[in-house]
Amino acid sequence: MNAGTEQRSKYKIAWLPGDGIGVDVLDATKIVLEKLKLDAKYIHGDIGWEFWRTEGDALPERTVDLLKHVDAAMFGAITSKPVKAAELELIPELQGKGRIYRSPIVRMRQLFDLYVCLRPCKSYSGNPLNYREDIDLVIFRENTEDLYSGVEFNPVPAELADLLTKLSEPFGVFQDVPLNELAISSKIITKRGSERIIRAAFEFARKHGRKKVTVIHKANVVRATEGMFLDIARVVHEDFPEIELDDANVDAICMWLLKKPKNYDVMVATNRFGDIISDLAAQMVGGLGFGCSGNIGQTLAVFEPSHGSAPKYAGMYKVNPIATILSARMMLDWLGETEMGFAIERATAEVIREGKVRTYDMGGTNSTLEMGEAIATRL
Ligand code: IPM
Ligand code: MG
Repeated sequence: MNAGTEQRSKYKIAWLPGDGIGVDVLDATKIVLEKLKLDAKYIHGDIGWEFWRTEGDALPERTVDLLKHVDAAMFGAITSKPVKAAELELIPELQGKGRIYRSPIVRMRQLFDLYVCLRPCKSYSGNPLNYREDIDLVIFRENTEDLYSGVEFNPVPAELADLLTKLSEPFGVFQDVPLNELAISSKIITKRGSERIIRAAFEFARKHGRKKVTVIHKANVVRATEGMFLDIARVVHEDFPEIELDDANVDAICMWLLKKPKNYDVMVATNRFGDIISDLAAQMVGGLGFGCSGNIGQTLAVFEPSHGSAPKYAGMYKVNPIATILSARMMLDWLGETEMGFAIERATAEVIREGKVRTYDMGGTNSTLEMGEAIATRL
């Protein structure tokens, strides 16, 4: 696969299959990229559950180093478990050492400041799983802040509880709860973080001739953070007068999006709500087998399907690789190889339209690799 062992390749791409079906879907994607003859060197990186169990780190330092020296990364999927369940699976030598499992994808997003989570959801005609035809939504999810900040307490330290009692009247109702029965996860957002994701959404809308950006929030209840996000959107909008600014509460959007998907175009949200609405939107265009995604920063971007590692299908080459292949398409766009990117999209759309090659989720019997080959053949 290495396009230039002697000569330098144009791009260095970290290849991070991870766990479970992450391997299957990246293998299918490799078939497509090889056919395109992208001038790239693909470098394998260790990541995932095996490295948590045996080294106590699902994102080993050597993989972090690798990511510092590549142009982009393709990432498969990761198995995640709650803290206590994860600790039980460590090899005996590592148990009881206070190691805490942290999701490697969340860590990559934070370590490399991959602040844009870009999730296009488009219904390709002929896909039997389309909830509606003609859906073409693009979600911008803030990717580094909010409930994902990792600032959490369980139990809550006495100092913190005392301070909250002093500073926050509503905290009064929790004042008598024993500290070991109290848990706090902090929803932290910043002006800088909000501004740059909202600006990214508007810039995308301008570049692609899209008419409307909808801000998804819960400003009526979560006023400090979500209220600030909405206020910032109104200010950023002043620089994009030709684009309509719309906003909706996150709960309401779950109804409206199903009812009138065509009323929406580009959507932008804080991290947690963006996570939730992107699964909803992916389901409308065929489910997680079609949910592609990019985690994009200034100097690095990591592309991945938004599905999980589906351990029960691992290694069976049964699942749909289209989400990953469309993520590779996003990677090509990011690298500036837009023609190759477009070629992948066109070939994928053709295979879906013809309907001759379908994985099990689409009602077919073809394998993951057969889907990759079918798309590669049309390039
Ligand atoms: C996603 C996933 C991740 C998230 C998990 C795997 C940590 O759901 O990329 O949407 O919550 O961000
Ligand atoms: Mg998610």
